[in-house]
Amino acid sequence: MFDTQCVAPTRENLERAAALWRAGEVVAFPTETVYGLGANALDEAAVRKIFAAKNRPADNPLIVHIARMEQLDALCEASPAARALMDAFWPGPLTILLPKKSAVPDIVTAGLDTVGVRMPSHSVAKALLLTANLPIAAPSANLSTRPSPTAAGHVMEDMQGRIPMVIDGGVCDVGVESTVLSLQGDKPVILRPGAVTMEMVASVIGNASVADSVMRPLKEGESAPSPGMRHRHYAPHGRMTLVCGEEGKVAEKIRALYSQSDNACVLARTQNLPLYKGLQVFDLGADEAAAAHNIFALLREADHRGFERIFSEGVVTRRVGLAVMNRMARAAAFDILEV
Ligand code: TXA
Ligand code: MG
Repeated sequence: MFDTQCVAPTRENLERAAALWRAGEVVAFPTETVYGLGANALDEAAVRKIFAAKNRPADNPLIVHIARMEQLDALCEASPAARALMDAFWPGPLTILLPKKSAVPDIVTAGLDTVGVRMPSHSVAKALLLTANLPIAAPSANLSTRPSPTAAGHVMEDMQGRIPMVIDGGVCDVGVESTVLSLQGDKPVILRPGAVTMEMVASVIGNASVADSVMRPLKEGESAPSPGMRHRHYAPHGRMTLVCGEEGKVAEKIRALYSQSDNACVLARTQNLPLYKGLQVFDLGADEAAAAHNIFALLREADHRGFERIFSEGVVTRRVGLAVMNRMARAAAFDILEV
């Protein structure tokens, strides 16, 4: 058991965090997407502590975070296409899967021969990674299956007693995890949508597609292109249903379902809040970027308030909206109604 300290990102605390990383410990830190649960990616025993702290299945690989391009060569083989994408989108919310080098322990990649690498843009993440000067393996800093943490308080809820330190860098800007892009095979494929979209990737390297498993459950016996997509994910305790379709009809359907349920709440876009007068309703935000920023915090809030049923509007799938719908669909265990 640790007496977990949640501390401000002062120079002194960044030095303390870097020292913990050098000593093989786990420290949670903010990124522009969600909080990460980091350890020295080159230290197998340290990485094992990440899996233990979050109860993560050993077959789900971790992303390695860097702050300088010079750190890349020790980790992976980067093709010209990969480098063009790094030029365009790093630092930022894009993870690229590349052939791994032997310095990266197998535990990081769950035995796969590719490693996911990313350079975060959050000022605290950058400062901390530069201070430590280590490649840092980090999954999202939630307990496995729980909604990802977008504030230090969320990390403390899940990790108190399990790790020595959380660096508090405020609320994460993007709010959903990075885009995971595979450059294996002949066509670049987005395995997990994020704020860097298919159109943005294609504008740099000519083409890209989104894995079709992004918006549907895996079939019996089907293997996931990205292991993380196989596991139950992002789930609140309350049972969630996602209602999509024509404006107006969605609100009507949600109101009907709500009236038949005990202890229910609604997630709705700002402009639709008046349609749910008298109901327990949470504001998703006015557009898809706001919904990305808010979604995980709202799922946690619904849990805190003890709601057993959650009915959510969908959002448009343009820009970061596809990532929001991907996370919502999984939070709802694919209980999606089209009206
Ligand atoms: O924004 C983010 O990516 C955050 C912050 C902390 O950087 N990290 C994050 O990590 O979301 P995690 O572990 O929660 O999600 C990583 C996803 C998982 O779905 C995992 O299966 C996939 O990336 N992944 C990682 N390495 C992979 C690989 N070599 N092949 C296929 N999928 C991989
Ligand atoms: Mg995660």
